[in-house]
Amino acid sequence: MSNTSKNTTPPLLIVDGLTVDYGTKGVSLRAIHDVSFELRAGEAVALVGESGSGKTTTAMAIAGLLSPNARVAGGEVRYRGSPLPIDDDAAMRPHRWSETSVVFQGAMNALNPVHRIVNQIAEPCVLHGMSRAEAMARARELLELVGIPADRGAAYPHQLSGGMRQRVMIAMALACRPSIVIGDEPTTALDVINQAQVLKLLVDLRTKFNLALILITHDLSVVAESCDRVMIMYSGRIVEDGSVADIFAEPKHPYTRLLMDSIPNPAEGKRMLRPIPGDPPTLMKRPLGCAFHPRCPSAMAICATEAPHLNAYGKGRVACHLHNSLAPADKVSVNA
Ligand SMILES: Nc1ncnc2c1ncn2[C@@H]1O[C@H](COP(=O)(O)OP(=O)(O)OP(=O)(O)O)[C@@H](O)[C@H]1O
Ligand SMILES: [Mg+2]
Repeated sequence: MSNTSKNTTPPLLIVDGLTVDYGTKGVSLRAIHDVSFELRAGEAVALVGESGSGKTTTAMAIAGLLSPNARVAGGEVRYRGSPLPIDDDAAMRPHRWSETSVVFQGAMNALNPVHRIVNQIAEPCVLHGMSRAEAMARARELLELVGIPADRGAAYPHQLSGGMRQRVMIAMALACRPSIVIGDEPTTALDVINQAQVLKLLVDLRTKFNLALILITHDLSVVAESCDRVMIMYSGRIVEDGSVADIFAEPKHPYTRLLMDSIPNPAEGKRMLRPIPGDPPTLMKRPLGCAFHPRCPSAMAICATEAPHLNAYGKGRVACHLHNSLAPADKVSVNA
């Protein structure tokens, strides 16, 4: 479990050994493996990693929104101490949107093109017990909250800009006053100006309502601006977890180090991304031992045979044999 927070209040959310498989053409493939972390009220945690590393699967599992071919093969998610029925869509309904909500990447796909946006924002409020009139008043209030004049609520999604549509998604996510908001690349589809504005909105609202935020992003500069903590995923596992300050100052895992090196550096006079050599493994062909070892500049013999556990290290956690030389008393394995 995370020991990165000094806060002693009980965690809002505990993800404990979460393991999810996808069934494809009669074959079951493991997408995430033994994912464990805690999230406290008001805490903003970034989930970072290359494409296919399991970020969306982790988020969807927490929100009980896994696709039909997914199966929770192990572990559980506890909210305020109680296990959530994450593999039962109907049973998750009372929880979803009122306790945990999600802002997806492509607002145009998530919004209904033939309904006025104010009605779409009111819908989750009605589903969670408000009268129609109360829900419409709340929807107008939410529009203003995300910086859209309430009168624009009569518009259809195609009549709004991409940035405004993403604001509508944020309004919908906040409609039932959740404690946790998951943003799955909420600004990726926007132009740079709108990206910055929508991110600022999310950060401001998080502070205003003391929301816990799980922010999935490829963009480490977004992490630095908006999160307290960062968890790095690789091939379905968390490989490093720590405060933004610690991980940016001194990444422990060689993969995290390479990710940090791949940030464009305007000071160098060029904005070239330095790609990490090699490709991430596929679900079909995951290397034995540490999944990162074929690409790792620091790989040792043990890395090819033994998967490292995610152990407490300093104020964070790291899954790497390079950092396994702790005194036994300091070693806390979350995967044991
Ligand atoms: N419904 C599905 N059926 C089969 N495999 C899936 C399904 N959804 C995701 N996967 C696979 O599971 C793995 C993890 O996918 P996931 O979408 O969680 O990754 P991600 O980290 O969010 O990637 P990205 O950055 O591209 O969004 C990938 O190999 C992906 O191809
Ligand atoms: Mg994803």
